[in-house]
Amino acid sequence: MSSLLLTGIGSLVTNDPAHGGLLGELLDAAIVVEGGRIAWVGSRRAAPAADSSADLGDRAVIPGFVDSHSHLVFAGDRAEEFAARMTGQPYSAGGIRTTVNATREAADEQLTANVARLVAEMRGQGTTTVEIKSGYGLTVADEARSLAIAADFTDETTYLGAHVVPAEFADDPAGYVDLVTGPMLDAAAKYAKWVDVFVERGAFDADQARAILRAGQAAGLSARVHANQLGEGPGVQVACEVGAAAADHCTFLTDADVDALASTGVVAGLLPAIEFSTRSPYPDARRLLDAGVTVALATDCNPGSGYSSSMPFCIALAVREMHMTPAEALWSATAGGAASLRRTDIGHLTPGARADLTVLNAPSHLHLAYRPGVPLISKTFVGGRPV
Ligand code: NIG
Ligand code: FE
Repeated sequence: MSSLLLTGIGSLVTNDPAHGGLLGELLDAAIVVEGGRIAWVGSRRAAPAADSSADLGDRAVIPGFVDSHSHLVFAGDRAEEFAARMTGQPYSAGGIRTTVNATREAADEQLTANVARLVAEMRGQGTTTVEIKSGYGLTVADEARSLAIAADFTDETTYLGAHVVPAEFADDPAGYVDLVTGPMLDAAAKYAKWVDVFVERGAFDADQARAILRAGQAAGLSARVHANQLGEGPGVQVACEVGAAAADHCTFLTDADVDALASTGVVAGLLPAIEFSTRSPYPDARRLLDAGVTVALATDCNPGSGYSSSMPFCIALAVREMHMTPAEALWSATAGGAASLRRTDIGHLTPGARADLTVLNAPSHLHLAYRPGVPLISKTFVGGRPV
């Protein structure tokens, strides 16, 4: 096993509290990578010898972004819907059906190419782990193939048969829930780690969500929930009740919702690119952070409510619009994402962690929010390999 020494790291974000502060930042640092893992981290002057070495020229290094929420398996786009929103039309869950029609008609190769394109976009913007949901198939065969395609790109695959009730079940939502908890789950489960439900007016209610999440759990999947995006509702409470890893969106919360997240440890996933692209009020990140809730930042990249694949964009929004500090935003985009996916091997750069790291064309991570819209990613390593 050959080792690689990376030196010339002007600022290294480890997310290791042992190094002080939220981000465990080390200046003038070095890292040794071996066998795809971090073998050593410390001051450049104390660095051990390695088989090969590279000087990063005083750039900043951060843990690769962990994007814990995306919908990449789809065909077509909804640019016209976005344009209409910008002239005042509200976003509604019903738009999902447009993408469902296009996705059902697409060949497997076309769906695979779409995921490959978007994952490449993400990698180019510093993301090293991405969760990918199904949810634009909504038939047994189309959900199963969506997840099979997603599984070629990530271990973090999520069965979202309960995205909306498809048109052919409009008069029989209970029949659709039976399909989602029965034959569709049977076909999807072998490709999925997670089960998710869009709990919202126009999508699924609390009882339907409980039934779907419990069925998924019985089939060996772990739960995550789309909660409280378009208005107050039962999503967060259901997520806490079933022991979900994450409640994502969290745009409209009651005090009881915030208390429930804090006391259960369910991660709140904040997806500010969605509020940007739907011109909606941003979630109150400070209220969650001040209550001690673990916050993850993710893109929610999808063709409808928000089509950005950029974690740096989400960080800039979190800082400028949601009053997170740059350190909180970066932590939530890395360690927070890992917590949301219940992963302990990623989201930090400490010995033993997977060597997933992003090199910035900048002297410090502060530039991510300070220079919004600027391509600052110099290199991304996944499992110690440049990608
Ligand atoms: O997370 N909320 C549900 N799903 C996506 C939107 C999907 C769509 O509009 O196509 C979301 O925002
Ligand atoms: Fe989503």
